[in-house]
Amino acid sequence: MSAEKAATIAMRRAGYYSSNTIGAKRVIDKVGDLVVAAAGKMPALADGQAFAIADFGAADGGTSMDMMRRLVRAVRTTEPERQISITYTDLPHNDFSTLFRLSQGLLGPKTDAPLADIPGLFIFASGTSFYRQIFPDNSLSLGFSATAMHWISNRPCMIADHVQAVGARPAERERFRAQALRDWETILLARARELRPGGRLALANFCIDEEGRYLGHTTGVDMFDCFARHWRDLYRAGRISETEYVNATFQQFYKTPDEFAAPFRDPDSSASRAGLKLETMFTMVTPCTYAEAFRRERDAAAFAKAYVPTLRSWSETVFAGALDPARPAAERAAILDEFYGAYEADAASAPDGHRMDYVHCVMEISKAT
Ligand SMILES: C[S@@+](CC[C@H](N)C(=O)[O-])C[C@H]1O[C@@H](n2cnc3c(N)ncnc32)[C@H](O)[C@@H]1O
Repeated sequence: MSAEKAATIAMRRAGYYSSNTIGAKRVIDKVGDLVVAAAGKMPALADGQAFAIADFGAADGGTSMDMMRRLVRAVRTTEPERQISITYTDLPHNDFSTLFRLSQGLLGPKTDAPLADIPGLFIFASGTSFYRQIFPDNSLSLGFSATAMHWISNRPCMIADHVQAVGARPAERERFRAQALRDWETILLARARELRPGGRLALANFCIDEEGRYLGHTTGVDMFDCFARHWRDLYRAGRISETEYVNATFQQFYKTPDEFAAPFRDPDSSASRAGLKLETMFTMVTPCTYAEAFRRERDAAAFAKAYVPTLRSWSETVFAGALDPARPAAERAAILDEFYGAYEADAASAPDGHRMDYVHCVMEISKAT
């Protein structure tokens, strides 16, 4: 992946990601039982071998930190002396410095002892994409990933009149789907090499569920339609060029549960031949924390002021990346402020329709012993 593409999907810096993504943490906490149970099903490790955990696409690690504490406790309940490693992986542009500060207790809540202070726990990070093999063959016990693998490795084309594949024209959407299915195979084969025999993956990925729901499209307004509409407004008003309008294309695709499961249903697929088996799969909707708070408090302005910065935390790099780099930085910043400002005014004027419920496909996958 080129540096430019990687930058497109980088998150904003300095703990901005974790503090604004309470919903993402909720998702991880909800799959905690599955993760802990998966760890309990592993064949015993040899003496002296570490229980190696990976968090693929961890961002600053803040959202998974409580779950990691729980997982470490669970491993130690049965094996008090077992050494454990956690390797946080993300793209090279990720804010690994914040991740290190959070795990060392230099940032974040002071309620728990820092993760890094747990005896016999070793924390590492890798800036290698999950589209490549990150760990040596047969070395990983448990691979975890939340809300990351919808980022595909490449944009097969720009989406001419929308921002995300969910609103693309059929021919565009098919190109994104083909890319996403190739990418899923790449992810699975890399993980198959890394997992030790009997190792497991616990994944919570954004999806389009059995009822056609996806992130920001459950009830009410479609969030990606809102992004597209406000971006189109800037184009129609002459604030951005046609190229800038078209270039705002999320490098993402939401697969359906059937698409996630397809490689496991075919005994001749490369994933099945590599020994991977789908143990469990279900979809889950995690309600938008901001919309829930609004339902209780009914303060439209406060809702929009909290909600839109959350959307901005993970989407801004896509719109910023679409703008002509020849524009002065202050001009680009003003366009982005105008864009998110319009979205905020929209959300404040009709708050009941806006919500960003998370829709996930949760999977537990094992590698043959
Ligand atoms: C929405 S965040 C999720 C962070 C965290 N896992 C959570 O659930 O809160 C998605 C993360 O995936 C990372 N990501 C996207 N593509 C990736 C890739 N190819 N390899 C590794 N990480 C990737 C992004 O950089 C980002 O930090």
